[in-house]
Amino acid sequence: MMNFANRISRLGTEQAFHVLARAKQAERDGRDMIHMEIGDTDFQTPQPIVDAAIQALRDNKTKYLPSAGLMELREVLATQLSESRGITAKPEELVVTPGGKPMIFYTLLALVNEGDEVIYPNPGFPTYESVINFIGAKGVALEMKGENGFNFDLAELRRLANANTKLIILNSPQNPTGGILTHESLQAIVDIAKQYDAWIFADEVYSQLVFEGKFESILSIPGARERTIVLDAYTKTFSMSGWRCGYGLCPSKEVADVIANLINNSVSCAANFTQWAGIAAWKDPSMPQAVADMREELRKRRDVLYAGLENLEGVSCHLPQGAIYLFPDISGTGRSSQDVYNFIFDEANIAVLPGTSFGRFGEGYIRLSFANNSVPRIQEAIKRLEAVWPKLIG
Ligand SMILES: Cc1ncc(COP(=O)(O)O)c(C=O)c1O
Repeated sequence: MMNFANRISRLGTEQAFHVLARAKQAERDGRDMIHMEIGDTDFQTPQPIVDAAIQALRDNKTKYLPSAGLMELREVLATQLSESRGITAKPEELVVTPGGKPMIFYTLLALVNEGDEVIYPNPGFPTYESVINFIGAKGVALEMKGENGFNFDLAELRRLANANTKLIILNSPQNPTGGILTHESLQAIVDIAKQYDAWIFADEVYSQLVFEGKFESILSIPGARERTIVLDAYTKTFSMSGWRCGYGLCPSKEVADVIANLINNSVSCAANFTQWAGIAAWKDPSMPQAVADMREELRKRRDVLYAGLENLEGVSCHLPQGAIYLFPDISGTGRSSQDVYNFIFDEANIAVLPGTSFGRFGEGYIRLSFANNSVPRIQEAIKRLEAVWPKLIG
């Protein structure tokens, strides 16, 4: 038995990466796997972004940068966030991180003490629960229920919140459920955070991936801005998962400075040339259309996969209004999430995730990403599922 620090036993994991590794191994063994496990698009990163990165490399933008990020990029992000969220953001309130995920770590490290309570969505992005436990805080899971469209249950939220609540985490549009929080939920979160003087962490990495209606940020609710850290990233919006490019908007320069010092102590800074590419992503005039085209293609893929799943016995699915996942209820099959995941992997050569990868309230569900495959490939996945389903139902 190795002598690891105690905190290591409290660290969870994002299972998508482990299932991805398992599926890659199956491919090396000669199996034709369909990847629906990892939340990633198969699109090329748009050309203006690639060109800007190549130009930056040629221009020797290959050195250290200030930990908080390139000022030219922070200026662009401040403008973009101000316009999209209806607020006033200043460049010095922004921090640039290698991907969006580090903001989860940094926010919890910066704001939450051991023993403090953190309310977080469950099923939800697994890193929240993992890092809450890791830092010795008390995770308070708010169950996201399919019957209310995976919204916050406001009575439950009020019951769970108390004077020890230090932070409330929300993610809208949501991973893994595809749900979008209503205006009423956003308002209630702000009211409760104010009542208990708690911080809010709003994970908005799917802000550009809303299929019906308009994205609403919690920042548009009066009183939210001064207590909310917002995470957004290039990852999903611009099909840039491997570039590792994300950012946080802090309520003040003081908070941003603390996060920048955590960046300083861990990774020094996000990569230089990717930050120059990040400017092009928001500034190049062709980009809004490129993003709209990707979103439209994703909507088509969602609709095809949704229709296919609805036809399977024992499966019922909420139509996601945002993000890139379907989160069907499979309890009607009489099998557990883990069973169904394994069965689909072994019998249909499709990699999905058990709902329990997203917390205990994910039992009874599986998650499928509809972003990784073309429509014909999704149709192939549906055919495979239809072929093996009678054996699962038994
Ligand atoms: C809700 C949510 N937050 C954060 C992230 C992290 O994104 P990144 O790859 O930019 O670190 C993801 C990625 O799947 C996500 O789904």
